[in-house]
Amino acid sequence: MDNIPAILQLGHPLLRQRAEAVDDVLSDSTQQLIETLQVALANSQGVGLAAPQMGIAKRLVIVASRPTTRYPYAPLMLPTVMVNPSFAPVSEQQEKDWEGCLSIPGIRALVPRYTDIAIRYTDSNGQTIDQTLSGFVARVFQHEVDHLDGFVYLDRVLDNHDIVAESEFLKICGLAA
Ligand code: NI
Repeated sequence: MDNIPAILQLGHPLLRQRAEAVDDVLSDSTQQLIETLQVALANSQGVGLAAPQMGIAKRLVIVASRPTTRYPYAPLMLPTVMVNPSFAPVSEQQEKDWEGCLSIPGIRALVPRYTDIAIRYTDSNGQTIDQTLSGFVARVFQHEVDHLDGFVYLDRVLDNHDIVAESEFLKICGLAA
């Protein structure tokens, strides 16, 4: 697939819309969308991507936690397509950790998220999947679902002092060359 559209950047109105449910996972248009997201994510240093970031206001995300130059400490997880994803916290416990976003280059922030969540989604074959996630992968999932509701991670930041330039983030995390 050659013509992958650019990832939309913060300020584009589509990133602020609520996306629509996918009603036919097996349709050509949905399968095409899945392929577009898979290629775009593989070409990035991201660990997740939501369809609205590719200009399609549908409830479909990919979570692909893996160590990258952007997230060297990320656990390895096979790229997982999640259609119509939802979640409920397993406990009220939240923790702050660093997030970034391919739609908001150059900055990072500490964002509070639930540490343990029960999730439900439809996979790329149309099967309903129930599972629990914790830690970093749970964080990525919550970040991506926010994209489907028109939110970005900066909306969740509690204190502006928790927002830093990526170059400073690398120093804070001991990753600067
Ligand atoms: Ni994002």
